[in-house]
Amino acid sequence: MSFSVHPITPTFAAEIGDLDLSAPLGEAEFAALDDAFNTYSVLVFPDQRLDDDAQMAFSARFGPLETTIQKLRKGVKLRVGPKFADVSNLDADNEILAEDSERRHFNSGNRLWHTDSSFRILPAKCSLLYARSIPPTGGQTEFADLRAAYDALPAAMKARLEGLVAEHSITESRAKIGYDQFTEGEIEALPRAPQVVVRTHPGSQRRTLYLASHAARIFGMDDGDGKALLAELIAHATQRQFLYSHRWRANDLVVWDDRCTMHRGLPFDDLRYKRDMRRTTVEDVAPTCEQEGIPAEQFAAAE
Ligand code: OGA
Ligand code: MN
Repeated sequence: MSFSVHPITPTFAAEIGDLDLSAPLGEAEFAALDDAFNTYSVLVFPDQRLDDDAQMAFSARFGPLETTIQKLRKGVKLRVGPKFADVSNLDADNEILAEDSERRHFNSGNRLWHTDSSFRILPAKCSLLYARSIPPTGGQTEFADLRAAYDALPAAMKARLEGLVAEHSITESRAKIGYDQFTEGEIEALPRAPQVVVRTHPGSQRRTLYLASHAARIFGMDDGDGKALLAELIAHATQRQFLYSHRWRANDLVVWDDRCTMHRGLPFDDLRYKRDMRRTTVEDVAPTCEQEGIPAEQFAAAE
């Protein structure tokens, strides 16, 4: 193995040194990296020089890339290609988004604890976020270890969560921050998605919680009870001992496992400083119910 692994905790988050991701990795080297990814969930690659093509090429080693939901928005000029989620505070001309801009409002949903694309029927396997430029202060990204959070649950709670399925929805999670600008086309293209509440992480065979701001209710449970349980689980999983807070340096690439973590962006002075972050997102292999052997037909989208 030609790179070095520097764990931040014994089981969560590691920095990878001595590796240049702009050149293609060999099979054995990628396999070793994939092992580290399955062990630590969050990998930090400092001091990379990645153009968009190089970021896409490295990302595609993990699997097929998602297309951004911003593509569904007709007539909107994208700053970056369709395989990127534009996590920046910049418009198509690289100017800072105005305080009342629609995209600024939408992106502020990233301040809620979530995992990427759990509102899609086929959710994300992992995300790769590259920092082209960062603000001088603020704008950290926090990560929560949902395998450790699961391990720490009382046995009775683990038993209670077995087989539960939550309904995830981007319109509901954005409604939490007062965003309601979805077009008819977007609503149609983004149906609510059933996702298991606990799952087995394929790369490690460890059980994990699967939670996000997008989780709106639990099937078969009173609406209030389901929402309260989801809120309790998110509060449990985001206790200090389960967190890694990433303080960005320009040219960091951070890869996280969406199957067993949550993350959120911390605020910064976004009307003053540019933060140019671009995310590629890799699709999971199958819907989570299918992976857990739970027939999903019974969870038709609620009205
Ligand atoms: C993301 C995200 C948070 C941040 O890229 O998926 O939620 O700190 N980002 O920008
Ligand atoms: Mn995100």
